[in-house]
Amino acid sequence: MTREVRITPSILNADFSHLQQEIQKISAVSDLIHLDVMDNVFVPNFTFNFETASQIIHNCPIGIDAHLMVADSDNIAPQYAEIGCQSVTVHAEATSNISQTLRAIKVNGARAGLALKPDTSIEGYADLIDDVDMFLIMTVEPGFGGQKFMENMMEKVRRTKALIGSRPIWLQVDGGISLETLSIALEAGADTFVAGSAVFNAEDPAAMIIALRELAGKA
Ligand code: DX5
Ligand code: ZN
Repeated sequence: MTREVRITPSILNADFSHLQQEIQKISAVSDLIHLDVMDNVFVPNFTFNFETASQIIHNCPIGIDAHLMVADSDNIAPQYAEIGCQSVTVHAEATSNISQTLRAIKVNGARAGLALKPDTSIEGYADLIDDVDMFLIMTVEPGFGGQKFMENMMEKVRRTKALIGSRPIWLQVDGGISLETLSIALEAGADTFVAGSAVFNAEDPAAMIIALRELAGKA
C-alpha cells in the first residue's frame, strides 16, 4: 500500500514583494501553502504580523498550513484557525496550555499541529496524542530558511511514527528538505514535507514540487 504523502511548500524564501504571484506559481501543485509566522521573540526573525498574515491567508487560492513561531501562542493560534487556515501548528515550547490550545484550534475549524524544536523530545508530549492532527518535527532550528537538514532528527521521526501507529495523524518535517534529503525523512516515517529554499531557489518552483512529490510517492 502506498502511503499518503503531502507537499506543503514554504513561502519563506519566496519574493515577499510579489507574494501573490509567487503563490500563484505553486498553488496548482501544492497540497497546502506553509506559512511561517515569526515574531522576532520566539525565533530571531520576523515575517508577518496577524494583519498581514490574514491578508495572505484570505488571498491564497488553496489551504494554508500556518506554522506559528511566536511566543505565547495560546491566544493567537485559534484566531489563525478562525480566519480560515486549514491547519494551525503551535510549538510545544511556545504554548502554556497545549491541550486546551490544540482543542481551541479544532473548535475554530482547523487541523491542530504540534511542533517540536530539535532539542525537544517527543516523549513528553505522548499523552497529548488524541488532541493532535499533525506532529511537526523540526529538522533545523526554527527561524530561517536555507539551513542544513539535521539527519540526526530521524530517530525522533521514527519514535513519533511509532507513537502515531495507525492513527490518521500527519507527520511533517520542516527544514532542509530537498531532492537529496526527502527520501531520508520518508524512510524514517514522515509523510508531509515542507520545502522552502529547495522550491523557491529552483528555476521552476512548480516543477520542483512535482519532483519532490514523485520522490515521496515512492514510499
Ligand atoms: C524555518 C521554517 C521553515 C523554512 C524551511 O524555521 O519553519 O518552514 O521555510 O525552509 P528550507 O526548506 O529552506 O529549510
Ligand atoms: Zn515552517
